[in-house]
Amino acid sequence: SNIYEKNTITEDGQLMLKKAEKDQIETVWDRYQAQLPQCGYCEMGLSCRVCNMGPCRVDPFGEGPQKGVCGADADIIVARNLGRMIAAGAAAHSDHGRDLVEVLENVAEGNAPGYAITDVEKLKQVALDYGINIDEKAPLRIAGELAHAMQGDYGTRKKELTLVKRAPKKRRELWRNAGIMPRGIDRETSEMMHRTHMGVDNGWQSLLLHALRNALSDGWGGSLIATEVSDILFGTPKPTPNTVNIGVLKEDEVNIVVHGHNPVVSEMILQACQEPDLLRMAKEKGAKGINLAGLCCTGSELLMRHGIPVAGNHLMTELVIATGAVEMMLVDYQCIMPSLGTVASCYHTRMISTSDKARFPGMEHREFHPDNSRELARELIREAIENYEQRGQVYIPVEPVQSVGGFSVEAIISALGGTPAPLLEAIKAGKIRGVAGVVGCNNPKIRHDHGHVTLTQRLIENDILVVDTGCAAIATAKAGLKMADAIRYAGPGLKEVCGALGIPPVLHMGSCVDNVRILILASALADALGCDISDLPVAGSAPEWYSEKAVSIGTYFVASGVYTVLGPMPPITGSMNVVKLLTEGLNDVVGAAFAVEPDPEKAALLIRRHIESKRRALGLDA
Ligand code: SF4
Ligand code: FE2
Repeated sequence: SNIYEKNTITEDGQLMLKKAEKDQIETVWDRYQAQLPQCGYCEMGLSCRVCNMGPCRVDPFGEGPQKGVCGADADIIVARNLGRMIAAGAAAHSDHGRDLVEVLENVAEGNAPGYAITDVEKLKQVALDYGINIDEKAPLRIAGELAHAMQGDYGTRKKELTLVKRAPKKRRELWRNAGIMPRGIDRETSEMMHRTHMGVDNGWQSLLLHALRNALSDGWGGSLIATEVSDILFGTPKPTPNTVNIGVLKEDEVNIVVHGHNPVVSEMILQACQEPDLLRMAKEKGAKGINLAGLCCTGSELLMRHGIPVAGNHLMTELVIATGAVEMMLVDYQCIMPSLGTVASCYHTRMISTSDKARFPGMEHREFHPDNSRELARELIREAIENYEQRGQVYIPVEPVQSVGGFSVEAIISALGGTPAPLLEAIKAGKIRGVAGVVGCNNPKIRHDHGHVTLTQRLIENDILVVDTGCAAIATAKAGLKMADAIRYAGPGLKEVCGALGIPPVLHMGSCVDNVRILILASALADALGCDISDLPVAGSAPEWYSEKAVSIGTYFVASGVYTVLGPMPPITGSMNVVKLLTEGLNDVVGAAFAVEPDPEKAALLIRRHIESKRRALGLDA
């Protein structure tokens, strides 16, 4: 096998890597190689840069220093570093949620032309959750009050976040008793930064407990608000066919690619791409049309709600540009490699950054705000069409793969006929053994998409329903596991159930903030069974994770009672105390823990074993 096959399992990835090499494009894999060997202290979490008496490091072999200048030992340093990773991840998701709340507020005030309340039903439901009186109120008025109430969840005026009420009662009591009930979204992140300042919280256990609370403020706070407000503004997803991989780019159309996370910009770009005068202009320039494609999570947002094609996941983002077929790429924030501008400089692709808080070298900054979004989107699409004539040679080496996406919890329940009961019956009868969430990123430390695809194949073969999000969801779609006839890859029970419902055995539940949809689904199953989430035959996994956001997600899964298997090892091995607490001790605190297993074949065994033991404990196979 060659280097391309070692880096990625995907055909489009291998062919594009070859093309990139020919074009002398440096990729994430090249830069990873150049970094090897990576710092062993940092890999183990044993280096500290928290204060200026340092930087310090603790010697893992017990020969050199065992304490930083301040006196912090390995346990403290590792716990502090992990805590700060979670704070950064929770901040990213929650700030994304806040941007949506601001759009909602602007819509209510009439300051956001082009945006609207699309799902009034959901607006009312969420408003009721917030205790807002909706009787005889116009949707815009409810929207304004809801935005205001949600802003309250970000601050310090609450004792408990509003939407934790959607978690099973037993879970909420457990959080209260353990002292990890999240109070304010920003508060928990801010407190984590405080606690990890030199000379504050030096109890590695208390730090890690607060880390759970911080992550819960993401999962049951910022991310959940992001998902709910996105549904309110842009519609709650329903099952929709779509296509994926680099083959979704079109040789004879103007290709526009959106990359990042927040649907606020990409939804406006989508609207502009469909406007008749711009389509006419594209045709005048000799193109057959305007083709919009997504990358990463903003791609999944559009795929979920509109069936817009996705060109690739995280590790494909540089290679998409190397097709030479992209007239314009627009980015918002998160997971956008700062190398993209350099790659684009070798082609005609115009790179546009759109968020006031995210700049990138080699990109042109055109800032989107709720009041100028519609006009700016039109202006940029016009410029992208102009750029079509600058195209050089184009290389789009594969055909796209068909898939089905759009499985919000509402869509799943409606596919089941209005209640979760049929799913529960199938689980009780053992036709479906359990449910696994496969989520997270790509990471050049793991063969691209190998973790996601192999793990998912093994799980569905063994009658475990897989729900996925983020880059994992794009990986399994590209591998054909979400095609209409993908049930042929499932075990007999899962095949029967999915076949009867007309759904694939792997359900695309959305972007990374949409991991909360998995929490809500798990809560619905737990409520229907009268148990806690930790009693269910469910598991989570992040086989190729790389980001701080993924650490926060994994942590709120575990704190919500979901056993979670990580692929790459987080930087914690410098403290066996921390490792033991996260992989064993947490069982006594939250009824779930982490495992780490980079080999997806073995990870599948861990998940199957866990699901079977939960089935036994529930007496399902008695
Ligand atoms: Fe060193 Fe302590 Fe400062 Fe960290 S906080 S850099 S261990 S002195
Ligand atoms: Fe993401």
